[in-house]
Amino acid sequence: MKISILTLFPEMYENFLNSSIIGRSISRGIVDIELVNIRDFSKDKTKRVDDRPIGGGAGLIMKLEPLVAALRSVKTKESHIVLLAPTGKHYAHETACDYSSKKHLIIVCGHYEGIDFRFEKYVDEIVSIGDYVLTGGELASMVIVDSVVRLLPGAISEESTVDESFTDENLLEYPQYTFPIVFEGKSVPNILLTGNHEAVDYYHKKQAIKLTIERRPDLLKNRVWNEVERKMINEIKTGELSAIEKTALDNAARFLHKYKE
Ligand code: ADE
Repeated sequence: MKISILTLFPEMYENFLNSSIIGRSISRGIVDIELVNIRDFSKDKTKRVDDRPIGGGAGLIMKLEPLVAALRSVKTKESHIVLLAPTGKHYAHETACDYSSKKHLIIVCGHYEGIDFRFEKYVDEIVSIGDYVLTGGELASMVIVDSVVRLLPGAISEESTVDESFTDENLLEYPQYTFPIVFEGKSVPNILLTGNHEAVDYYHKKQAIKLTIERRPDLLKNRVWNEVERKMINEIKTGELSAIEKTALDNAARFLHKYKE
């Protein structure tokens, strides 16, 4: 996959593109990320890329000519062009999945008070990463690149993207734990120590439902619960354990205490 980022501030990407999973994905050839400095396409002697808003108003507006020239320098028939702006449609996991299947993604970062509105005619979609105004699209583009690249085959282990939040029909990911088993009196849940995979899977799904009900009930608005899930919800409400959890805990009772010593 290739991603071209059109920006006035390419220097903002230096650490981002050289670190962690993004840096590794670039060096492994999983993704090619190209930075295009919009200012390089200004025909103006002073390399000006903005001007006053026509009709009055505060701030400066990005001019069309350098933007369109920069876009044309990278656009091909296979390009999908995204303009970042707080007025765009909300970005979410589903969009990240969609972008990860594109051959060429072009991301255009706005700046200053905005972009000449006519530029919207040159793009496929306008996207916002949330209901707040950033000083420019650069941070938003990093959010998009990060969330897309980690979905590309080979970027991270496949299992990491299977169970995570938003992949199982809009459930948040279940809580996870690592060592030590007890820290400042706080223990990891006993069921995770039983070694019973069926019981652990059941518990994980129930915790994912519990967390989603508590934190993001909006994600569950159109969800139709199946029989097992309804049973889990009842157990969440009553605090009762399922037979499978009880059996796993009973069988492990002999050795569970050893973990906590
Ligand atoms: N540019 C400024 N604010 C933005 C936002 N919330 N999302 C995307 N691009 C932006």
